[in-house]
Amino acid sequence: MADVPRRILVVNGKGGCGKTTVATNLAAMLARGFRSPDGRHSGPRQVSLIDHDPQASSSYWASQRSSELPPIHVIPAHQRTGMYQTQAFAFRIPFDTDDVIIDAHSNTRDRDLESLLKQSDIVLVPILASPIDIRAGGSFITELLTHRIFRAAPRPVGVIANRVQPNSETALKLQHFLQCLDVPNVATFRDTGAYHEGMERGCGICELPPSRTTRREYAEWRALVRWIDDQPLGNTRSSSGIRSMPLAANRRNEPGTSIRA
Ligand SMILES: Nc1ncnc2c1ncn2[C@@H]1O[C@H](COP(=O)(O)OP(=O)(O)O)[C@@H](O)[C@H]1O
Ligand SMILES: [Mg+2]
Repeated sequence: MADVPRRILVVNGKGGCGKTTVATNLAAMLARGFRSPDGRHSGPRQVSLIDHDPQASSSYWASQRSSELPPIHVIPAHQRTGMYQTQAFAFRIPFDTDDVIIDAHSNTRDRDLESLLKQSDIVLVPILASPIDIRAGGSFITELLTHRIFRAAPRPVGVIANRVQPNSETALKLQHFLQCLDVPNVATFRDTGAYHEGMERGCGICELPPSRTTRREYAEWRALVRWIDDQPLGNTRSSSGIRSMPLAANRRNEPGTSIRA
């Protein structure tokens, strides 16, 4: 168990770009652990997934998850709390959490972005390979990098190219756009029905039956986790308040939807 959980924010002001897909697949990868081809081992971690989206897609994903898979604790932060409960209490994370993954809602801007940034050590921005998404993604990244919270404590930001059809014109445009950005392209995921299947079954690509497609995507997920593991976390710990996280709960299962084996 980590002394202080690592906090990974998945965000983009645009809907449908793959925030929930990235957040849920990453949760599954970290909860499971894996060994890289180079022999490095990532042990299984206790993961809490905070669902900020009113559409509750991460919560739905978790509700479909089999009890035989590694557990992921879901915190439905999009819900209103009861009259006599503070948000900090209702949405507290379990004390044994190693990684917190925050699935932001679409339209995250201004105050919401500020609050989520304060709670994050690493930021992942999925972008779709379409002209409109590339444009919107560029504006969002500019807003992120110039935000006063970010400037006060810069933290690692990685862009994820999502739903890419290799060698298509839009894929080349996205590649060119990412090369022009001062932000690394940390993973590229293809457009494949395996992600729909994972969403329906409450599992990650790493937990679907092996096929050519899932193997290829899995390799990209491992590379993404390696990038995350290699990022220094110091900047955000001292200045922007690890204390602003939800408090640690005494037990799992309350009041979030805890999916345990
Ligand atoms: N790489 C992908 N290949 C195929 N479908 C995808 C991929 N990434 C996301 N999707 C699908 O696109 C839709 C929107 O993705 P989602 O993760 O819910 O976006 P967001 O959370 O940003 O609104 C979902 O139906 C999801 O299954
Ligand atoms: Mg979503």
